[in-house]
Amino acid sequence: MVQQADQFKKVISHAKEYGFVFPSSEIYDGLSAVYDYGQNGVALKKNIRDYWWKAMVQLNENIVGIDAAIFMHPTTWKASGHVDAFNDPLIDNKVSKKRYRADVLVEDHVAKIEAKIEKEVVKAAKRFGVDFDEAQFKSTNPRVIAYQEKANTILKRLGKSLEKEDLADVKLLIEELEISCPESGSREWTDVKQFNLMFGTKLGASADTAMDLYLRPETAQGIFVNFLNVQKTGRMKLPFGIAQTGKAFRNEIVARQFIFRMREFEQMEMQFFIPPGTQKQWYEHWKKTRLKWHLSLGMGEENYRFHDHEKLAHYADAACDIEFKFPFGFKELEGIHSRTDFDLGSHQTFSGKKLQYFDPERNENYTPYVLETSIGLDRMFLAVLSHALEEETLEEGATRTVLKLPAALAPTKVAVLPLVKKDGLPELARSIVDDLKWKMATAYDEKDAVGRRYRRQDALGTPYCITVDHQSLEDKTVTLRDRDSMTQERISLSDLQNTITDKVAIETLLKKL
Ligand code: GAP
Repeated sequence: MVQQADQFKKVISHAKEYGFVFPSSEIYDGLSAVYDYGQNGVALKKNIRDYWWKAMVQLNENIVGIDAAIFMHPTTWKASGHVDAFNDPLIDNKVSKKRYRADVLVEDHVAKIEAKIEKEVVKAAKRFGVDFDEAQFKSTNPRVIAYQEKANTILKRLGKSLEKEDLADVKLLIEELEISCPESGSREWTDVKQFNLMFGTKLGASADTAMDLYLRPETAQGIFVNFLNVQKTGRMKLPFGIAQTGKAFRNEIVARQFIFRMREFEQMEMQFFIPPGTQKQWYEHWKKTRLKWHLSLGMGEENYRFHDHEKLAHYADAACDIEFKFPFGFKELEGIHSRTDFDLGSHQTFSGKKLQYFDPERNENYTPYVLETSIGLDRMFLAVLSHALEEETLEEGATRTVLKLPAALAPTKVAVLPLVKKDGLPELARSIVDDLKWKMATAYDEKDAVGRRYRRQDALGTPYCITVDHQSLEDKTVTLRDRDSMTQERISLSDLQNTITDKVAIETLLKKL
């Protein structure tokens, strides 16, 4: 991972320069917190989505997928609690007139305290050298302990105040911590107010008959309202899961950090329906299972941590996040929520339709409980991209920019490069592309010197380059260059497909689960 303070800026500009992510409608100066995926971004995103889908649906007999519509009957959102409770606490600064999420202001303050802890750790690591034990240092160093206690106390109080809807105390907390407006530096704040995050729209042509709708703020409700349809038509027995990927929309006020917090984004959610009373066991199961999925990508165990929610959402009896170390610190990547029977129970009440399951083993009808795993696809994309981007200093002092993407997720698996644009080399290279393209995403490139072409493929995250040279014409061998080690081996054309296929297949990741 690029370690400099400006690494995040590098990720954003790399994403644009190499066709991964563009600001939306950029020719009109863009639209805040809305982004488009370019030719390479869409492939990376699809590969992440496929990996998630296969890990959920293909590998588990008892998990099936659906694709529900974005528009849903408006009562859905009353039943789900989103009309009443899907709010952010907002505060305005009186001088700059800027609006902030009050909880984010406090969390940013806590992040500064946590940064001080990290500084102490780095200093100590330098002092103690190889013998440094970070865990021991953090649990015994008085300065670190004091910082940690301070951070914990603030977060606890914030959690409690939000849970009790005590917005006056949230404002008091901001004042006590002497938090000032990042723009004006002023500490003159308005009261904290709640703001609903759902986007509204209308269905129907005439003003009198049009129906008020919402763009779905989560994909989960499409699963809940289809619970019985799937259970009955699929003859599903509890426990079973329904998985879905799709767009969700939130009118985020503090929309920033690139694709980390967007107004239109994609979720990958799975609702696991279980008998009441088994939720603790399944909560632990899905925490472990999901972490394993993340770790299989090889992005470093130290870059993940669980964070238990202080403030539980209105539907949950337990919840945690899997946090990832983004360039701007540890932040939520995925949520694992024990949602009880809140959703099915509530839809039952609002619709008047029974959403129950007859359990032949217990010989009774009941409303199933639900364990949910919910991950933002765009956020996962950002985690993968930012972790992969490296600037390496090579032996001769030159640098190379390389995206060390997990091979199975890379947009292009292999680039075929004729050494020169003549002597029949392009023809042979093209015939290799024609052989490989049935199995994997393959590119052909003949422009510029071969060294420059390697660099370009490095920057795109292509794990392998095949170079066709004059020897290839004689002995039917080519060189296979590895993106990460930059080593090249001579390999026979007949072995090419077998050598690469396993290394770049999603199946290889799936087998690690
Ligand atoms: N159904 C539960 C649910 O939606 P959530 O914690 O609000 O829970 C789940 O969202 C995941 O969706 C988050 O962990 C995050 O990865 C992603 N997500 C949420 N809001 C997002 C946003 N504005 N932009 C990008 N991703 C977002």
